[in-house]
Amino acid sequence: MNILGINSVAVDAAASLVSKGKVIAAMEEERFTRIKHDGAFPVNAIESCLSIGKIEASDLDAICFSFDEWKAVRSRLLYFMSRGDVRALWNTICKRGKAFIGQLQHETTFQKKFSITKKTKIYKFDHHLSHAASCFFPSPFDKAAILILDAAGEDTSISIHIGRDNRIQTLKKYPYGQSLGAFYTSLTEFLGFKPNSGEGKVMGLAAYGEVVFAKQMEHLLALKPRGDIQLDLSYFTHHRGLGSHCSSRFYKEFGPPRIPESQITQRDENLAASLQKRLEDAAIHIARHLKKISGMDRLCLAGGVALNGVMNAAILEHSGFKEVYLMPSPGDSGSSTGAALLYQHQIQNQQREEGLLKSPFLGVSFSDEEVEKELKNFPNLRWEKRQDYLDYTAHKLAEGAIIGWFQGRFEFGPRALGARSILADPRRVDMKDILNERVKFRESFRPFAPAILHEHSAEYFENPHDNPFMLLVFRIREEMRDRISSGVHVDGTGRGQTVHKEISPTFWELIRSFREKTGIPVLLNTSFNVRGEPIINTPLEALQCFVKTKMDFLVMDDIVVWKPNGR
Ligand SMILES: [Fe+2]
Repeated sequence: MNILGINSVAVDAAASLVSKGKVIAAMEEERFTRIKHDGAFPVNAIESCLSIGKIEASDLDAICFSFDEWKAVRSRLLYFMSRGDVRALWNTICKRGKAFIGQLQHETTFQKKFSITKKTKIYKFDHHLSHAASCFFPSPFDKAAILILDAAGEDTSISIHIGRDNRIQTLKKYPYGQSLGAFYTSLTEFLGFKPNSGEGKVMGLAAYGEVVFAKQMEHLLALKPRGDIQLDLSYFTHHRGLGSHCSSRFYKEFGPPRIPESQITQRDENLAASLQKRLEDAAIHIARHLKKISGMDRLCLAGGVALNGVMNAAILEHSGFKEVYLMPSPGDSGSSTGAALLYQHQIQNQQREEGLLKSPFLGVSFSDEEVEKELKNFPNLRWEKRQDYLDYTAHKLAEGAIIGWFQGRFEFGPRALGARSILADPRRVDMKDILNERVKFRESFRPFAPAILHEHSAEYFENPHDNPFMLLVFRIREEMRDRISSGVHVDGTGRGQTVHKEISPTFWELIRSFREKTGIPVLLNTSFNVRGEPIINTPLEALQCFVKTKMDFLVMDDIVVWKPNGR
């Protein structure tokens, strides 16, 4: 059975291919179009999934969308009618109506472009159920509680479920507008960062501030009995879909918003810290309730808010769950995987295969011939194939080199996990500044992640819970901080990726070799891109990024590339 999952609503368009019970390809459209968070119909991602599966569209048994536009139109019209909100009602008719027609057009586009037959079934699944399927079915758990937090699905932004074997049962959907994702995004916008993009920056900034706005945050977002929350919507406009997120009442209380790219003030830092704390409190509150009513010990998390690794770790530490599972892409792109898996397990009643999604390396790869062909277009660069490229790279890293690392299939999801990464030595105190100055050009308050051999995780992290997809932020043991100083955030935490030999053998071997030379089983790992761009996909993009930045070496499989005159 071949099933294609598609997310094509608003942001992070993506496609996933499930074949013979397993997820064999999954990728975001932004990697191809080079537009960050691109929400366009993912034609390129679909083509690549089919190519990896060596199938034609006519071989597909089902095509599954992870959002039902018609359901969204209906529920929002009812919501605004009940509130007598004429402006938002009219906006919904125009905007969501257009999106509904867009989804119909997507189906037609698919039928025309990929020439599917009438026997291919097309499904539009509930968005939150797609998220739930994306994290429960690939999890190692037979049964688990499921918590979904995002900006907005069709009719909810928070939902809780129970997963058992190949079934998911929804326990509760929170009312439309009561959204932790939209709450965080609203303040992200107020703090001068791009909504639905800059939330990770706010999380990084939070570590610099104090929670001085606790009272105001409690007023904006109240915690109620039985795991309920109440967002005071008089401070917000996000739920009305009119473009902005905060209302005039919010500006009256908190003052003028930060102008994008302007100096960050103490107020901004404190606001970020207070927001982050309130998000964590609310998420823990809901998770505790879920733990109580489900009686489960294990939790699966998904939805865009689950990209907040600090919140995820807080849930794990304070809600009573013993283990948590997150798939490589908990945001909307991952819902494409969930939609395909929903068809496989809920509709077709197929049992879950062991390890149906173990590796995050679900994107496109390139042969040595393709890399060498591209290198011919860069006559100013020198390169050689080296059998000892792992040992050589580890040696150069230990000497302080910054290295572009391009290996095999690219990662699904927003994190570079050792396939399209920029690597450096974490021991040097100044490495963060050097990376920013020479390569990344990003805000100085953002941390860089340490990638650690999972066998050594407990030596460095206070909580050694597995973190293969870099979605949990834990405190680094105080006595170890000096050893990996540039991988430690200002509050002593790190988004440590636990690297497993069976998932990433080459990357694991590289870190092992670095440890042999330095005694440190950790490398600094940041995404292979420059500020504001999606992570690279092709050898050409790797070479272009290498040329325009001041990286020392680029290693593409076993080919080592350098600039004859240094940087
Ligand atoms: Fe979502």
